[in-house]
Amino acid sequence: MAELRSRRSNLAVPGSNPRFLEKAKGLAADQVFLDLEDACAPLAKPGARKNIVAALNEGGWGDKIRTVRVNDWTTEWTFQDVIEVVGGAGADLDCIMLPKVQDAAQVQALDMLLTQLEKANGLEVGRIGIEAQIETAQGLINVNQIAFASPRIETIIFGPADFMASINMKSLVVGALHPDYAGDPFHYILMQILMAARARGVQAIDGPFLQVRDVEAFREVAKRSAVLGFDGKWVLHPGQVDAANEIYSPSQEDYDHAELILDAYDWATSEAGGKKGSAMLGDEMIDEASRKMALVIAGKGRAAGMQRTSTFTPPES
Ligand code: GLV
Ligand code: MG
Repeated sequence: MAELRSRRSNLAVPGSNPRFLEKAKGLAADQVFLDLEDACAPLAKPGARKNIVAALNEGGWGDKIRTVRVNDWTTEWTFQDVIEVVGGAGADLDCIMLPKVQDAAQVQALDMLLTQLEKANGLEVGRIGIEAQIETAQGLINVNQIAFASPRIETIIFGPADFMASINMKSLVVGALHPDYAGDPFHYILMQILMAARARGVQAIDGPFLQVRDVEAFREVAKRSAVLGFDGKWVLHPGQVDAANEIYSPSQEDYDHAELILDAYDWATSEAGGKKGSAMLGDEMIDEASRKMALVIAGKGRAAGMQRTSTFTPPES
């Protein structure tokens, strides 16, 4: 499991709008990504680079992970985006998000450019992470290589809107179920991304839901990827932030239970607890596999800052 810095809610902020950049600092999102790509018109991109550098240098982002989404390598903008943002604000930036990643070489190209920029600007080499967006059929068939393409990779992100266009999906509602299909049309894609992310030990992030005023519908889509194991989801509107933070955290009951399993198993395997490989916790049998499942839930809860509401008492022997 990836080292968990919470990324339950990942707020998209158009770099072309200084008012939105300022407002984003006050929202409860775990992560922000300041966008130079599709939320930024071509003519607005040069100004947006400057707004983003200024907003990052100015600070005030609290504990949020600060990411900038640059344009993809098929455009004429990528190198200039990276040079300007890392050159101007490299010390105040955690990750670069690369959209529409097609193969491992595109990640490696960004890695090399980042390394040169870090050296040229006196920054720690290798600190800036890469977030890879999978948004095309080509990207999905290469996702396993993409996940392992660079030690900088921190997340694999599903980009459902571009992906739907890439595979000619007959729907305009991003990420939602479809009345003419009995299953979840996104299940296969989500699982491929999740497997690649978990095999590499990085986070898997679900993409946007565009009907921003319909928080109930957002919750339905988010719950499906959360239950599979995804770590978080993009949010496009303040109304989606709290929902994402809740849905990608364990429930209080599951968090308490996970911590109890860890304590109980720790006790059972100890000298004092009888060096047992399996034990009972109430009516439940727990063993090493239970500990691993509990570590996942406890890890998510701890990363989200949750507090326990129960404690473990060793059984009388
Ligand atoms: C996000 O970039 C998407 O295409 O869904
Ligand atoms: Mg996209």
